[in-house]
Amino acid sequence: MGLHSKYQVVLVCVLLLPALCLSQFTDSRATFYTRPDGGGTPTGACGFGDYGGTENSGWVAGVSDALWRGGAGCGACYQVRCKDTKLCSADGVTIAVTDMGSGDRTDFVMSLNGFLTLGVNPTASEQLRKNGTIDIQYRRVPCIFDGSNVKIKINENSRFPDYLAIAVIYVPGSNDVVSIQISNNNGRDWRPLRRAFGAVFDISNPSRGPFKVRVQFSGSQTWVESPNNVIPADWNVGAIYDSGIHA
Ligand SMILES: *[C@@H]1O[C@H](CO)[C@@H](O)[C@H](O)[C@H]1NC(C)=O
Repeated sequence: MGLHSKYQVVLVCVLLLPALCLSQFTDSRATFYTRPDGGGTPTGACGFGDYGGTENSGWVAGVSDALWRGGAGCGACYQVRCKDTKLCSADGVTIAVTDMGSGDRTDFVMSLNGFLTLGVNPTASEQLRKNGTIDIQYRRVPCIFDGSNVKIKINENSRFPDYLAIAVIYVPGSNDVVSIQISNNNGRDWRPLRRAFGAVFDISNPSRGPFKVRVQFSGSQTWVESPNNVIPADWNVGAIYDSGIHA
């Protein structure tokens, strides 16, 4: 895309008609899984841990290979609405991806609480639940439930100070985080992390923090650097840190 047309897109998307810049809906199918509280699973394949059970009010889902994108799809948000005009609310629900999984030709295996939000009322939702698998439409939308910065969490596999594994748990924009590096020298001597699994990137012998973080988003070669140190020297397993990076 030339610079000129890029500016036109920015103009239209940011200033004039943000709704026009959302992607089109895609037809698919969805089903659900049940946990005692109706929320998400704390053992999702993204590696979010407990956060994966409660984020976005527990409106979360496991997704098909196509939306999983080798783990890069973790943390993405999708607007999902079902298609039966009598039973389904027009806006549906926005879910966040925390897991991988599929049912019978589904793209989403939703937490029960998220799934039940698809109906126009509790009776309709109960009918959808009884149906098991339902026809839906979905589109990628920016996540908005936890601010506008990328957030990371120290994954439970980490061992201070020799092995650092971090999960990218919150991606507010419409692009995936595809690469991540850290610097303990104020933005010099960047060291790459390896995608271990799901949304988890790791590094052995990360040296002593604190660390700045920089990321690459899908569709761009540019590194976007945190304005400040993100991971403190005495980082803790399970801690969530705000990168200060806007998506
Ligand atoms: C319920 O399941 C049937 C059979 O798969 C399907 O044809 C129908 O569209 C589903 N209902 C809804 C509301 O999606």
